Amino acid sequence: MRIRKAVLPVAGLGTRVLPATKAIPKELLPVVDRPVIQYVVDEALEAGIEHIVFVTGRGKGAIEDYFDHAHELESQLKAKNKTDILTAVDASRLPAGRSSFVRQQAPLGLGHAVWCARDVIGDEPFAVLLPDVIVKGKPSSLKQMVDAFAKVGGNVIAVDPVPEERVSSYGVIAPVERDGRLIRMSGMVEKPPRETAPSNLAITGRYILQPEIFALLEKQGAGAGGEIQLTDAMAKLMESQAFYAYEFEGSVHDCGNKTGYFDAVLTFALENPDTAEFARALVKKVAGTL
Ligand code: G1P
Repeated sequence: MRIRKAVLPVAGLGTRVLPATKAIPKELLPVVDRPVIQYVVDEALEAGIEHIVFVTGRGKGAIEDYFDHAHELESQLKAKNKTDILTAVDASRLPAGRSSFVRQQAPLGLGHAVWCARDVIGDEPFAVLLPDVIVKGKPSSLKQMVDAFAKVGGNVIAVDPVPEERVSSYGVIAPVERDGRLIRMSGMVEKPPRETAPSNLAITGRYILQPEIFALLEKQGAGAGGEIQLTDAMAKLMESQAFYAYEFEGSVHDCGNKTGYFDAVLTFALENPDTAEFARALVKKVAGTL
């Protein structure tokens, strides 16, 4: 079955990059010339997603505006013949009727945020993309997962090896058997202490899930950090459905913290035709002073 819809939970407060996110959503922080969330939406579209469900919260209205027309701006750019900029602005808009915005009314956790999208998703498998994680891959990481899902079905979640001292910041899987990039698991756990973590394979924020997850989320109590965790409900779903981890090809840039955000800006500045030459020269100059 085709994956047509994706959930982007964008209600998070962005506390790790305050005060930058005091008055603007963390998802709109710029990485060179596009906000973080644009990279994530582009990844979803590349994977064939047709409808994006944003789970928003108070203070996140600018995200809704970002994906809409900006009539005054567009007519001014047109009047001034700024065609290139107008083209970039046009490309950021989502087609009419192809996005929905639902509210997560209280910060109860990622599992609760995904559950808030249940009516819009309905009874079909869907994707979840965490909007502060940019995954750079060719094809995109979700596209790689969609292709794997087309072969094996069930549920597929992206994983990536992380240094052992960082496992307690992530959901972590217990791998059993590997077939290429697909991994069968015996379990998964949210933010385990380093000593008891079942592996160093972290869940990276890209998921393909069956709709049965919603009934489990509905009953899911609070877990790690006192929040309703998606990982806990997925661990239960694993008991009754096929579930695979997928070690994708690509690099992960977590823009929800200072170093990951800086990594994303530098990585994409070194690639963008407008900034690549300058960024390379700057890196060399700075390296020479260290
Ligand atoms: C969330 C998930 C976690 C995952 C991580 C990826 O945690 O709960 O399983 O590994 O995203 O970034 P958060 O970063 O919201 O604490």
